[in-house]
Amino acid sequence: MTINDIRSKFLSFMEKRGHALIPSASLVPEGDATTLFTSAGMQPMMPYLLGQKHPLGTRLVDSQKCFRSGDIDEIGDNRHTTFFEMLGNWSLGDYSKDKQLEWFFTFLISKNEGLGLDPKKLFVTVFEGGSGVSKDVEAISIWQDLFKRVGVSAKEGERIFAYPANKNWWSRSGPPENMPAGEPGGPDSEVFFDFGEDLKLHEKSIFKKEKCHPNCDCGRFMEIGNSVFMQYLKKEDGTLEELPRKNIDFGGGLTRLEAAVNSDPDMFKISSLYPLIQEIETISGKSYSDAENQPLMRVIADHLTAATFLIKDGVFPTNKAQGYVLRRILRRAAVKLYFLTANFEILERLSELSFKVAEFYSPLYFDIKKDTPVLHETIKTEIKRFSASLDKGIKELQKNPKIDGKAAFDLYQNYGFPLEITAEILSRMNIKIDTKQFEAEFEKHKQLSRSASAGMFTGGLADHSKTVTAYHTATHLLHAALRQILGTHVSQKGSNITSERLRFDFSHPEKLTDNELQLTEELINKAISDKLPVTQEEMKKDDAIAQGAMAFFGQKYPDIVSVYTIGTKENTFSKEICGGPHVTNTQELAKIKIVKQESLGAGTRRLYLQFV
Ligand code: ALA
Repeated sequence: MTINDIRSKFLSFMEKRGHALIPSASLVPEGDATTLFTSAGMQPMMPYLLGQKHPLGTRLVDSQKCFRSGDIDEIGDNRHTTFFEMLGNWSLGDYSKDKQLEWFFTFLISKNEGLGLDPKKLFVTVFEGGSGVSKDVEAISIWQDLFKRVGVSAKEGERIFAYPANKNWWSRSGPPENMPAGEPGGPDSEVFFDFGEDLKLHEKSIFKKEKCHPNCDCGRFMEIGNSVFMQYLKKEDGTLEELPRKNIDFGGGLTRLEAAVNSDPDMFKISSLYPLIQEIETISGKSYSDAENQPLMRVIADHLTAATFLIKDGVFPTNKAQGYVLRRILRRAAVKLYFLTANFEILERLSELSFKVAEFYSPLYFDIKKDTPVLHETIKTEIKRFSASLDKGIKELQKNPKIDGKAAFDLYQNYGFPLEITAEILSRMNIKIDTKQFEAEFEKHKQLSRSASAGMFTGGLADHSKTVTAYHTATHLLHAALRQILGTHVSQKGSNITSERLRFDFSHPEKLTDNELQLTEELINKAISDKLPVTQEEMKKDDAIAQGAMAFFGQKYPDIVSVYTIGTKENTFSKEICGGPHVTNTQELAKIKIVKQESLGAGTRRLYLQFV
């Protein structure tokens, strides 16, 4: 069974149960400048989970392309990839927990309609309770009944495990305490596949001293699906309120499901990735069975898959936002291939891997004839440019083996070597370096790039022109003003900026009155005429939240975030976690006017604002 078979099986399984099939949205969220990439199946579904009516009804199914740049450093092990497809089914206030769990379980074990997995290899987790929500005993009893039907004993603590919110609660911002007011979320129930004790994965892992259990990360258990019971809304007073309409958000990792079907914990052995590994073996003349080569080959295979999909969705290698992430993964792949081969000449052959990706995923996601030339041009040009500087940079490193932190930084600036690459090259060349200084510089840089990518999550604006920057600052003013005038239940749901206007979506139950609109405009225009300073600082995420910085759009933020403050310390008008860019003083903004308002369905409103 290939991932294509598994995808089709899942989609038709759910279609048979009344779900309407929807296509995957782009990896680059449309009309949403607050997040760089689609990283979960529910992201494009957010308006409907919040109450907007979906034209295709209340039961939906899809396979959504996802990209998680936050996982880049983990690629190389047996289970992480930056790109993956998330199978999803949704109940928008339709069926609930019992049907969801029964259907997913049936899909996993049914030989005719599903994957035919052995139920004895499945382990499940549920929410143990907390934040005013009680333990999910209902899920436990549903699971016990389901396992009983197939003659598998399912005691709690043996097959069913209860965990706290950090494991079994899902919202875009994680556990209840991190959810902003107006954010939906709920307890979830995950299914894990057991690759087996006999593989001794636990004994070989860094967790060997601890007891092994589904969530232990030793590699023995792999999460293959998550049913989220999205039935709570975070309230202003910090408590959770039960939603009148209960939704189900199910997400299952397509590639992981194939790994389970194959009963092989190496995800890089599956139908979509193994042909790439084989091609890398051909190009490099090295073998995947050599453990030393595995992490390098896995990074190349994953990054070229991700790059191929990103290019297809319109991303080009540049120095900002999505383009920077694409550039970084292509360069990382090139460096790994260089490590395998020590040959600059063949790096351009990476583009051949992208043809393999396109071929595998066509016709569903690629049109070979149309896409191949674009993939070829984009990847070849980027790699050509980089391999020239890689060559120079490595020569530089060889000339100057006693490299210090400063010199490493120069390499970054002169040749576009991220320090992670310099560090890796040096350690492979067995070159002694002034590690202390290097690490200090490295740490500084890591924090900077962490906050840069944090910024890119929230500030992924493609156009940094002056007007767009000014509108970006106006977004923060509008968000803060609405919270002052309407109340702190207002939270941003989306925004979109062109050089003509700002479009802003937020949670609020009813139409704004003329008076409320006027007060909002006046408040923003006063902030502009007051010439408030706009300052940026980097701080620990927890400190930012503690200081009341607005964090929304539930993306997982890195530990160090960039925070923009409008106003002074004593008299703060707005504080948000954001990557910018922004003006430095509100006096750079023209007077504003709210030109239009719309309803996006229950609970969400849209305003258009212009400079006049
Ligand atoms: N939204 C859930 C997840 O991404 C299904 O895990």
